[in-house]
Amino acid sequence: MSTVAILDFGSQYTRLIARRVRELGIRSVILPHDVPLDRLAGPETGAIILSGGPDSVHRPDSLRPAPGVLDLDKPMLGICYGMQLLAHTEGGSVEPGARREYGPAVIRCEQQDGLLADMANEEPVWMSHGDHVAVLPGNWRALARTSAGLLAAAAREDGLRTAVQFHPEVTHTPGGLRLLGNFLFGVAGLSPDWNVRDQLPARLEAIRAQVGEDPVFVLVSGGVDSTVVAALLARALPAEQVVAVHVDSGLMRKDESAEVMQALAAVGVRRLHLVEAQDRFLEALAGVTDPEVKRHRIGDLFIRIQEEAVRDLGLGDRRVYLAQGTLQTDLIESGHGTAGAAVTIKTHHNVGSPLVAAKRAAGLLVEPNQDLFKDEVRDLGRVLSLPEHLVDRHPFPGPGLAIRILGEVTPDRLALLREVDAVFTDQLRREGLYDKVWQAFPVLLPIRSVGVVGDGRSYDHVVALRAVDSQDGMTAQVHPFAWDALLRISGRIVEEVRGVGRVVYDLSPKPPATIEWE
Ligand code: XMP
Repeated sequence: MSTVAILDFGSQYTRLIARRVRELGIRSVILPHDVPLDRLAGPETGAIILSGGPDSVHRPDSLRPAPGVLDLDKPMLGICYGMQLLAHTEGGSVEPGARREYGPAVIRCEQQDGLLADMANEEPVWMSHGDHVAVLPGNWRALARTSAGLLAAAAREDGLRTAVQFHPEVTHTPGGLRLLGNFLFGVAGLSPDWNVRDQLPARLEAIRAQVGEDPVFVLVSGGVDSTVVAALLARALPAEQVVAVHVDSGLMRKDESAEVMQALAAVGVRRLHLVEAQDRFLEALAGVTDPEVKRHRIGDLFIRIQEEAVRDLGLGDRRVYLAQGTLQTDLIESGHGTAGAAVTIKTHHNVGSPLVAAKRAAGLLVEPNQDLFKDEVRDLGRVLSLPEHLVDRHPFPGPGLAIRILGEVTPDRLALLREVDAVFTDQLRREGLYDKVWQAFPVLLPIRSVGVVGDGRSYDHVVALRAVDSQDGMTAQVHPFAWDALLRISGRIVEEVRGVGRVVYDLSPKPPATIEWE
């Protein structure tokens, strides 16, 4: 199976490139822009894509691939900065634009084959760049220009180097997927052979090869990533070898812990431990209103409880493996995956905890899905017969409902928010909207407001509904619900959840707002 290596020069869209390549049925991996030559030179790398990025080839010490990479006899596609890098390295000239070009543009295709096969004469594209290629290297040809005459696409005569100034990976470039397909199938001659179902046997075999007959344990949070890992382990190994531990923090959604335990039992996890820690979390959160203090108290307590469980169950020994649901995106976001160019967005609990560090140092960490993206893990979950409502669940933060309760977290406020969340989710599902929204949840505000109930005055809680569309949580747009759907949702909440007197809808994109309120 061929892999497309995507060298990350710090573009916001790098992950989108990887995703598009996989949509086209080809395995992709995102690598640091300066990954050593030997990581790319092998036969498994079928093609290389150089991402865009904020750098300029004229800056001293600008980001470059490792020595020898650009000489590899492999098909390459340079996007934006990647195009400038290819052209500059091969003797072309890159110039700063008079101003940054950002937004929609139209390109004129000068030929309709190779990279531009089946494209229209004029194609709308998305631009985001400062520099541009002014003069191509001698053995390159222009394939398309913008209406202002700037080079938009080009290729070397031998076809092994191709480049575009615009961003084919974003949906604002409607012909972008076709162009990427032209590169992968036409230029690079790859054939689509990536789907999660077919790889299940190889994935199971890799787990068996890594752990042998030693025990493996997995901390199951309730989210899809760790649940899928537990299901994989159960399929790969004899039942007595797999231990799953779930901590019920009491900060989970309605029935979540019970559903996770049931789902794991159903896929054959026999050594299943539930740690009931609701009271300890409430105690740690008593009187706490500051969001950062909440996050730290919860994170610290999770670590302490996990360490206790590991000790009590004898899982800390040498030769006991720890499996976890790390995804490719976790590695990128935590700065573990791509050195240098990618900015560290947040340190994920699972990549950074001391227990994980100790197991990693001892070579006892099993991360069977670290090459996958979220959608692919969901597919794998389906292949492993996990229930759909668990597999398609929206992302849920480690600190749980606590960071959706503004002010103090109390049992009553948790119960109230859990009920609102259940009604919101249920109505979204009934409306057929749950899958269309990337993440949706209610937030309990630290205020009360006046209302009328019958002939009397009420003074009840206020909840805000949050629903966003996003690719990866790093940026997000407000989900544009149809009014009538939103009104049915809010109507059910005030009707069915006692104590809620008012519902408001959060209209803030990220940035500047974050998705969670705390
Ligand atoms: P923000 O609020 O930072 O959220 O815009 C972006 C995405 O990350 C989730 N999130 C977390 N996930 N541990 C997690 O595992 C956390 O501490 C955490 N905080 C936020 C959030 O739900 C959204 O999907």
